[in-house]
Amino acid sequence: MNNFVFYSPTYFVFGKEQENNTGKYVKRFGGSKVLIHFGGGSVVRTGLLDRVKASLKEEGIEYVELGGVKPNPRSGLVYTGIELCHKEKVDFVLAVGGGSTIDSSKAIAAGAVYDGDFWDFYQGKAITKALPVGTILTISAAGSEGSPDSVITNENGMYKRGASGEGIRPAFSILNPALTQTLPTYQIACGITDICAHLFERYFTTTSEVEVTDRLIEGLLLTMIKEAPRVIEAPEHYEAQANIMWAGMMAHNNSCGVGRVQDWASHDIEHELSAVYDCAHGAGLAVVFPAWMTYNMKHDVNRFAQLAVRVWGCQMDFNHPENTAKAGIAALKHFLKSIGMPSNFAELGAKEEDIEKMAQSACFGNGRQGTIGGFAKLNDKDVAAIYRLML
Ligand code: NZQ
Ligand code: ZN
Repeated sequence: MNNFVFYSPTYFVFGKEQENNTGKYVKRFGGSKVLIHFGGGSVVRTGLLDRVKASLKEEGIEYVELGGVKPNPRSGLVYTGIELCHKEKVDFVLAVGGGSTIDSSKAIAAGAVYDGDFWDFYQGKAITKALPVGTILTISAAGSEGSPDSVITNENGMYKRGASGEGIRPAFSILNPALTQTLPTYQIACGITDICAHLFERYFTTTSEVEVTDRLIEGLLLTMIKEAPRVIEAPEHYEAQANIMWAGMMAHNNSCGVGRVQDWASHDIEHELSAVYDCAHGAGLAVVFPAWMTYNMKHDVNRFAQLAVRVWGCQMDFNHPENTAKAGIAALKHFLKSIGMPSNFAELGAKEEDIEKMAQSACFGNGRQGTIGGFAKLNDKDVAAIYRLML
């Protein structure tokens, strides 16, 4: 195991009706004038926004509102939010929604206390300072409720980039699984895929002797495999949604990633797809991951075979571990199909002619130096070959 520091100071409030205490938590974390940020309207339709506003009023906290965050959130609305924070003297940003709303809120919170262009952070500058952010999560997926990350699409060229820094780790996150019961099954499946992807990105490592994090990841994957069919069949299943919601947080606050090299090439490869074709991040990952695994199995076939045996219940073939590894990838494909995820470029609306451009952008964008991936270093030719496996 490698040396590490783990500091994850978000205050989590989990369970039914906890959004009715939002005002108390905003106060506790120093907010007196709040920007409530939300998406395309689901929180209005479900009545969640009204409950949150009532809770702020109860505590005498003033607020302004900014809705309209799109999935794959855009830079334009971030600039609007920053201006609004300045004009209204906002001192706390409250995200009510999914990863897109949370990421947009984090970008606004960082940009509001920064003299330069907030996009600097999405070109590699670390975020050390931001207004405090609180979140009320409505979809189990991105893990942004417990992560120090934000991903934004720049409308000037439609490229998607990530920023990171302790300054944007949420001060508090309210996780009420009942809020996810209104999700369409397709979005639930996208979320499940993203959670599994966050676990795979950490599982494929070059670090040896990492049994505790291996076992945590395997346990969370087994939970996802058990609970996925239950929530796809019945989104109102509270207990299954609860397990998925906490798994989604654990998958990405890095409890499972400490002390080990992580990969993350699949996320870089996917971000090109969701930037260019505006597909859901989880749907893109469903197409990317089996292809990435197939291409990179050769680097450590025993690790792929271990996952196949421990998570997918495959039989170990000691003479030909590559057969076991392949059986694991086949099981993953079957699982993704069973929850309604796409399996190729055509189903995502992606086009073969864009492959070279996307491969270049994946390897050279965001200040990258021509290769991506911690487990397997990939150059643009490798990435293009992986895209071709998705055709
Ligand atoms: O916009 P509204 O109307 O709210 O609808 C949303 C949206 O259309 C809908 N939805 C959310 N909760 C709902 C609901 N509909 C009904 N009932 C509910 N309870 O679901 C759709 C998807 O929402 P979105 O926020 O886009 O989903 P997700 O949480 O998957 O976020 C995706 C974004 O997160 C980024 C992705 O790249 C993508 O841009 N990521 C962020 C990460 C981070 N900050 O740490 C890490 C991830 O790997 C990921 O890259
Ligand atoms: Zn993700």
